[in-house]
Amino acid sequence: MFRYNTRKLFLCMVFVLLVFILANHRSDHSKEKPIDKTWHINIDPVTRITFNITEQTKKVVAKNVLDKFFVLSPKCKMPRVNSFVKGFPELRPLRFKSCTDEPSLVSVIYDREKKHYMLHLNMDVSLNHFADFSDFGCTYIEVVPGASDVFAYVKSPEYFHQDWIVPSHFLGVIVECHEMRNKSRVLQRDAFSFVHHLKNRNEENDLKRGAKYPSVFLFGIDSMSRMNFRRSMPLTSAFVSQNGWFEMEGYNKVGDNTLPNLMAILTGRTPRQWRPQCDVRVSGCLDSLVFLWNHFHSAGYLTAYAEDLSSISTFNYLKMGFKHPPVDFYLRPFLMVIEQVLKTVEYFGFKYCVGRRHSFSYVFDFAKQLIERFVFEQPKPLFGLFWTSSFTHDDFRGGANLDGLFARYMEQFKRYGLFERSIVILLSDHGSRYGPLAEHYTGFLEERQPMLHVYLPSWYRRRYPSVERALILNKNRLSSNYDLHLGIRQIIEQIRPRIDFMKSVKCDYCRSILKVLPSNRSCSDAGIPDHWCTCKPFVTVRITLPIRRLTKLTVNRMNRYLKMLNVDGDCHRIKLNKVLKADRQLYFDGHGNEVQSPNNVETYRILFTTKTNNAKFRSIVYSNADNDVVTIEMDMISRLNSYHNDSYCVEDALAKKFCLCYKDQFLKLGERAASKERKVKYKFHENEDDYYDEAKYKTHYF
Ligand SMILES: *[C@@H]1O[C@H](CO)[C@@H](O)[C@H](O)[C@H]1NC(C)=O
Ligand SMILES: *[C@@H]1O[C@H](CO)[C@@H](O)[C@H](O)[C@H]1NC(C)=O
Ligand SMILES: *[C@@H]1O[C@H](CO)[C@@H](O)[C@H](O)[C@H]1NC(C)=O
Ligand SMILES: *[C@@H]1O[C@H](CO)[C@@H](O)[C@H](O)[C@H]1NC(C)=O
Repeated sequence: MFRYNTRKLFLCMVFVLLVFILANHRSDHSKEKPIDKTWHINIDPVTRITFNITEQTKKVVAKNVLDKFFVLSPKCKMPRVNSFVKGFPELRPLRFKSCTDEPSLVSVIYDREKKHYMLHLNMDVSLNHFADFSDFGCTYIEVVPGASDVFAYVKSPEYFHQDWIVPSHFLGVIVECHEMRNKSRVLQRDAFSFVHHLKNRNEENDLKRGAKYPSVFLFGIDSMSRMNFRRSMPLTSAFVSQNGWFEMEGYNKVGDNTLPNLMAILTGRTPRQWRPQCDVRVSGCLDSLVFLWNHFHSAGYLTAYAEDLSSISTFNYLKMGFKHPPVDFYLRPFLMVIEQVLKTVEYFGFKYCVGRRHSFSYVFDFAKQLIERFVFEQPKPLFGLFWTSSFTHDDFRGGANLDGLFARYMEQFKRYGLFERSIVILLSDHGSRYGPLAEHYTGFLEERQPMLHVYLPSWYRRRYPSVERALILNKNRLSSNYDLHLGIRQIIEQIRPRIDFMKSVKCDYCRSILKVLPSNRSCSDAGIPDHWCTCKPFVTVRITLPIRRLTKLTVNRMNRYLKMLNVDGDCHRIKLNKVLKADRQLYFDGHGNEVQSPNNVETYRILFTTKTNNAKFRSIVYSNADNDVVTIEMDMISRLNSYHNDSYCVEDALAKKFCLCYKDQFLKLGERAASKERKVKYKFHENEDDYYDEAKYKTHYF
């Protein structure tokens, strides 16, 4: 359910009074009365969203300007939000249930010499914690990947003895210890996955490569803006402020939710480019695309990918996933099985605890084993993506719960030498898209500005000083997912100079983020669609009466459009249901001072739903603040949810977005034949990005 009681959030803010008089609408001859002379729209002055800088933007020019802007260039003015000021939604950590307070009865030991894992029974735990159990025995069941992503299964249980050696082909096991006399009395269940050294590798080659090629690790935290990251994850923020880390403050997302944003990074393609080739609801389509891990695999790297919450994972929620494991080390089958077999604790419908651990921990323990085996013990170049959504996907406060755990993993990884050998990227897909942060007046920026931090090991900085220099300069330049994609590919090009990938990305002005980005750059240069661009920022305004009236005008215009096409007899009349969100555009001069909108015409972006056809729309509305003009560009009205077959009776592309056809029996006899002729094949979704948005959230929010 959407919660739109933003009112409270604005109480403590300074309000600007805007007076709107809407009368005499040039092209609106409907019977609407001129609207009240005084419209009170409460908007925070821009000074409230300028940043009182607490951070080190040392190396950068024009510091005073960058106090207020992430990016300030002729073509891009991206304000810096300070989320530490009063008036931001309160950040109390959530109270999660802990997954267990019992010590582990079984643990995994790795024998470095013999290169195998063993299951070890902790006898003291059994004595101290399970004293009332008589003789007990422990079994394991092996988790086996199925023929494709959507299947995995387990073998039948077998008893094991102390320090039993795990066979080297096992992906994972679920163990159970129970009383021998009464086997349904279970002491403990647990699950472990294993990263084994590979057989049949050319160790000599690996050794050579391992010494020369940087490994590349991507760690992703879902729904984390750079503002919320600083605020909710101070420990991890401190970790990534250390020497060698570079933050990209001008990073702007390119799509709505996880899939388009991650696909842009992993394939370098826009939805428009990959969707014709791949309908994600068809099995095998994802296998036909080329991902970064395929490039790294070809360059002799090992590859790995793991993501928690297997039921909603990026490539699997309402999608068929991969037919073949996309990488060498693929955790998904293991996670799928343990989510089914072990006891889970749900939070927002997501399996947050699985068995005795956080869903998140399985992913990062897996990463840890990979680092131990292939960074620490026998260096081999590795490309890995490790993604977590379980804490942060549904609540902006989740980062506060994750912070300590996440920072602890980073410290462990550091002890195993990760940061001596590897390029590490900490990233997110987007910011908060629902809830208090998204509804806050800075929600427009929050949603569009995911965090991005890049780490270069010191040997790499010495070897490629130009890359370090580029990252310092790029910190406050506009960058996008496509630039990041090209940057990661540049790492392969450095070791394989003859490869030239760049051409395959169809964005003429996208550049590797590891090269100096142009300082005067627009969103379209960086492949960022207008709608997601924060170079022309908006602030969210309260949904006041005037805003509602502007929205009603929009709806009237839609009805009039249907009338103009003479299809108003075929379609239901549209009525406004609810205004969900309204944003107003901000304008700045070249020095970053806020200025009046050109000609005093304010630009609003309004999100609303309508009755009868249950539709969700976004429209751009221009309104003259002083007096009289309201302009609604019909082309700028986007239909956000799928309209399936609602509008089969009209042909016009725009009318298709608005029209809910009367059922045949309601049509006048004469019109029936005509309407049948007009029938055209329906399009499943108009706005593809938003189709996925709706799909992903339907089950949880509506
Ligand atoms: C920054 O914030 C602090 C505390 O919130 C305040 O005392 C200080 O005056 C502010 N500095 C500027 C330049 O606004
Ligand atoms: C075996 O253990 C289960 C679970 O603790 C219990 O419900 C059941 O009564 C026990 N059966 C016997 C025969 O003791
Ligand atoms: C930025 O680009 C625009 C359009 O290409 C150009 O008109 C303007 O002079 C440039 N500004 C600077 C400072 O380079
Ligand atoms: C769309 O709905 C109409 C009326 O219910 C029906 O006759 C038509 O076959 C449907 N078309 C498709 C493609 O489902």
